[in-house]
Amino acid sequence: MTPQAFRQLMRLHPAAVNIIATGKTPHRTGMTVSAFMSLGVEPPTVVCAINRNAFSYAHMADNQVFSVNTLAVEHIALAKLFAGQAQMFGDERFDAQEWAQFDSGSPSLRSAVMSLECRLIRQVQESTHCLMVGEVISGCYNDAALPLLYRDGQWVTTSDDLLMVSVEAKDMR
Ligand SMILES: Cc1cc2nc3c(=O)[nH]c(=O)nc-3n(C[C@H](O)[C@H](O)[C@H](O)COP(=O)(O)O)c2cc1C
Repeated sequence: MTPQAFRQLMRLHPAAVNIIATGKTPHRTGMTVSAFMSLGVEPPTVVCAINRNAFSYAHMADNQVFSVNTLAVEHIALAKLFAGQAQMFGDERFDAQEWAQFDSGSPSLRSAVMSLECRLIRQVQESTHCLMVGEVISGCYNDAALPLLYRDGQWVTTSDDLLMVSVEAKDMR
């Protein structure tokens, strides 16, 4: 398959949007990441795919700790800010009202859908990216927040519409 065809297919894959962050003030950095998932429960582990050219990649490896902050619908500007789409870089992007910190020092976004504090336990290099495996140390959440998703170049969110449809009516077996 050509890279273009692959990219076109992957555009249709809806993904939650997160900011992966690392470092303590005034050396905090972070980036917008959709390639994130839970890996296993015992022990609690997660994995994210980080471009090895990203500024944050080396910092995650150096610090050995990072946070995952799952964004809510009101965080589109933050998603762009941490994707390098604004003229702001490094620590200045961390607003004091919006960001707290975990015990390990990693930044924690107060209004995130959920935030995880992770210890980096493994790195798997694969072509342009590195799979960063983290053991989850702690976490917090806001259950009223609506998650921000990215699909086909658009910012979208989840809908509870299906919950209104009778499950029996949909099951054709
Ligand atoms: C919606 C969205 C999802 C992204 N997901 C990833 C991802 O999973 N992995 C990655 O390496 N970059 C991803 N990026 C690109 C990075 O956010 C972007 O390259 C960023 O500028 C890297 O930051 P840094 O070099 O300042 O650390 C994504 C960008 C957007 C807008």
